[in-house]
Amino acid sequence: MDAPDWDARYAASALVWSAGPNRFVVEETADLVPGRALDVAAGEGRNAIWLAQEGWQVTALDFSPVGVDKGRRGAVAAGVEVVWIVGDATTWEPPPQAFDLVLVAYLQLPRAALRAALGRAAAAVAPGGTLLVIGHDRDNLERGHGGPPDPEVLLDADTVADDLEAAGLQLVAAGQVEREVETDDGKRTAIDCLVRAVRHTSSS
Ligand SMILES: C[S@@+](CC[C@H](N)C(=O)[O-])C[C@H]1O[C@@H](n2cnc3c(N)ncnc32)[C@H](O)[C@@H]1O
Repeated sequence: MDAPDWDARYAASALVWSAGPNRFVVEETADLVPGRALDVAAGEGRNAIWLAQEGWQVTALDFSPVGVDKGRRGAVAAGVEVVWIVGDATTWEPPPQAFDLVLVAYLQLPRAALRAALGRAAAAVAPGGTLLVIGHDRDNLERGHGGPPDPEVLLDADTVADDLEAAGLQLVAAGQVEREVETDDGKRTAIDCLVRAVRHTSSS
C-alpha cells in the first residue's frame, strides 16, 4: 500500500487502530527510562501518544498525511506534545544516534524497502538506546490470525534480526509473541514478530 492508499484507509473511519497502545510496546518499554523516542510509521499515533503520556519526548513519522493529521489531533486531545513528521521511512534521514528508543510497529513493506527502513531506524538509535520492531509474523498465514495475506510484507524474526545486526545494533531478543484478538467468530491468536536490539555504548 502506498501513501494515498493509507490516506484513504485512515480517512474512511474515525480510528483504524486501537486508541490505546500496542500491548508489546507497553511491556517492552516498562524497563526503560523515558528519554527521546522516535515512532517510525506511527499511523494514527496510538503508541506515540501513549509514550508521550509516559514522559517520553516523542517524534512520530509516517508517510500518510491523513494518519499524521489524526495523530496530531489525538495528541492535542490527550494534552501531550509530539513532533509529527510526514515522511517516507525508507528515505527519511533521522538525526544520527539521537533517540533512546526507536519503535517500528506493524510497518508492512516488501523485503528491500523494509531493510532500508530498518537501516534508517537503526541509525537513529543513540548509544545505550533501544530499537523495538514489532509486526505481523509470517506464520500467521499458516496458523495465526490477522495481518495482511501477502507473505512479502510479513515479518520473520531471523531476517529482521539480521538486518538490525547488519546495521550495527546488538540483538537482545528475536522471536514470536502471541496476542489474543476478539473476532466475529470468537477469540483468535495473532502471532507477532518481536525483535529488540540495542546500540551498546563504547564502554559496554
Ligand atoms: C499497520 S499501520 C501501523 C501504524 C502504527 N505503527 C500502529 O502500530 O498503530 C502501518 C503504517 O505504516 C505507514 N507506512 C507504510 N509505509 C511507510 C513508509 N514507507 N514510510 C512511512 N510510513 C509508512 C502507513 O501509513 C501506516 O500508518
